[in-house]
Amino acid sequence: MSAPVEAKDVAALGATMRTKHPTRPDPSVAMGEPLLQVRDLRVAYGGIKALKGIDLEVRRGEVVALIGANGAGKTTTLKSIARLLPVASGTITFAGKNLATMTPEALVGAGVSLAPEGRAIFPNLTVLENLELGAYLHRDATAMRETIEDVTRLFPRLGERMKQEGGTLSGGEQQMLAIGRALMARPTMLLLDEPSLGIAPKLVQQIFAAIRAIAAAGVTILVVEQNTKVALSASHRGYVLRTGEIALSGNAKELLQNPEIQKAYLGG
Ligand SMILES: Nc1ncnc2c1ncn2[C@@H]1O[C@H](COP(=O)(O)OP(=O)(O)OP(=O)(O)O)[C@@H](O)[C@H]1O
Ligand SMILES: [Mg+2]
Repeated sequence: MSAPVEAKDVAALGATMRTKHPTRPDPSVAMGEPLLQVRDLRVAYGGIKALKGIDLEVRRGEVVALIGANGAGKTTTLKSIARLLPVASGTITFAGKNLATMTPEALVGAGVSLAPEGRAIFPNLTVLENLELGAYLHRDATAMRETIEDVTRLFPRLGERMKQEGGTLSGGEQQMLAIGRALMARPTMLLLDEPSLGIAPKLVQQIFAAIRAIAAAGVTILVVEQNTKVALSASHRGYVLRTGEIALSGNAKELLQNPEIQKAYLGG
């Protein structure tokens, strides 16, 4: 077992990351003010109502977990925010801008990056080529090199495998690559869909330590997870999604102690 990552190491790692986009002005939202706001979001697939009017917000500087069982609507929520699904009704705003009319590319330009469920890396491209694709909106050579250095410090395993084809990486390494690629755009906000899915517990700890380091670098994070304990332990606040509705929300530490959550999701 590798040694657990200490909180001070996480903070130190975060402090060295260069997260600001080289050309995009930072949204003028102060620390602690709402950066992402979702209001009464409804999404249906044909006749099936996947989201029945959800409200959530993520303030600048926060790590927020969206937890819930299979089919609760977690991925649907992230895809709606990332403009990969049409919004049937409701509003989504980021730094005061309405996201409804944006294309997925414009969203990345506005400062929001998604590491999708299933990772969606390019199996025949190398690790380095996959990372370079993540920076497609700003191909400034210096910024790209610096961000690759940051990603490599965050995930040393990726650094050792830059020339390896993405498809030959282990599941955990592919997850690191998906997060690394999302970071290449130097986002203001990162959306993560089940970073722990199908990954051994030891690697899950490393990935969540990296997530905390990314947050320590000033990136705001919304993370979707079925792994309630790991996700809430790394977050400031959480929302529990149940069949398309927010059933509970609040401070992450309090949610971890909540008897209803312990019974339903923590096997308590
Ligand atoms: N493309 C689709 N067509 C029809 N129904 C869909 C589609 N995508 C999702 N759904 C349905 O919408 C609901 C929510 O799915 P979603 O993928 O958002 O769940 P989830 O919380 O991410 O689950 P998991 O933890 O298994 O990834 C489910 O009932 C699912 O079957
Ligand atoms: Mg999902």
